[in-house]
Amino acid sequence: MSATILDGKALAKQIQNELAESVIEFLQNNGAMPCLAAVLVGEDPASEVYVRNKRRACERVGIESQLHRLPMDASEDDLLKLISKLNKDLEVHGILVQLPLPPQITPRRILQAINPAKDVDGFHPENVGLLVQGYPRFLPCTPHGIQQILIRSGIEIAGARVVIVGRSDIVGKPLAILLSAKADGGNATVTLCHSRTRNLPEVTRQADILVAAIGQAQFITADMVKPGACVIDVGMNRMASGLVGDVDFNAVREIAGCITPVPGGVGPLTVTMLLCNTLAAAKQLET
Ligand SMILES: NC(=O)c1ccc[n+]([C@@H]2O[C@H](COP(=O)([O-])OP(=O)(O)OC[C@H]3O[C@@H](n4cnc5c(N)ncnc54)[C@H](OP(=O)(O)O)[C@@H]3O)[C@@H](O)[C@H]2O)c1
Repeated sequence: MSATILDGKALAKQIQNELAESVIEFLQNNGAMPCLAAVLVGEDPASEVYVRNKRRACERVGIESQLHRLPMDASEDDLLKLISKLNKDLEVHGILVQLPLPPQITPRRILQAINPAKDVDGFHPENVGLLVQGYPRFLPCTPHGIQQILIRSGIEIAGARVVIVGRSDIVGKPLAILLSAKADGGNATVTLCHSRTRNLPEVTRQADILVAAIGQAQFITADMVKPGACVIDVGMNRMASGLVGDVDFNAVREIAGCITPVPGGVGPLTVTMLLCNTLAAAKQLET
């Protein structure tokens, strides 16, 4: 029997509708709208699409958005000055610096310069530390989006065996922390895999919940999946045929219990969680 498709678009819409109501409430209480400032350096086509999608999503829920552009050859100093200005701007509640940055700019220095109270991506070391210690201020958007897909689809996380393939700072690592936390939406037994993992298929076949965040098209094949498992595909690989995930969708859907598609799976939730963080930042800053 074919797997249930977990419709990320529909879930994102549901959460955005809830969010739109909270934004109206915020406006009534504070007389101002939450505001997200996006910073884009250069003209990378994929980054342009991501920023446009984020701004459109802001519009849909009533969050104000600003776009600050710097040229491809902007210096690290130019970007630091812009961030310092946005940090001080009382009308800006959230700051998002779209990655990747051009090679003359060190992302770590930039992300550390963002006021942690406006760091709606959750990448600042202070916010990463709070997450690790179990007192998150902002949950990183993609891991939070994945957790929401699982919770809202009624998939049991507590006690489940979760295998995550990919240990990036923005997906794999924080997701492992989130799903293994001693908290609601956590309590899973998590294994974090990477390119040095031995016998990867043997490990992935143990997963009740398998998350692929690798960046290689159709890397997870049907023989790597336990029958009935929940498969979350984070991958976004731009191929001639269009956007393709890290999971061999057509083969894996025949064996999995449920699966997220690409596009229309994790991506819409990532954007939605950014909106949730912007509202949360606005509430914290205005009180
Ligand atoms: N849908 C969304 O909202 C969203 C958000 C973020 C990212 N993405 C997508 O998710 C994918 C992953 O991105 P990322 O930034 O998380 O990861 P990344 O920084 O590109 O790192 C890839 C990870 O995969 C591991 N890996 C690579 N080859 C492997 C192999 N043969 N076997 C096992 N592990 C392997 C790497 O291991 P090592 O550490 O050992 O090198 C690394 O940990 C990309 O397609 C990206 O576009 C999607």
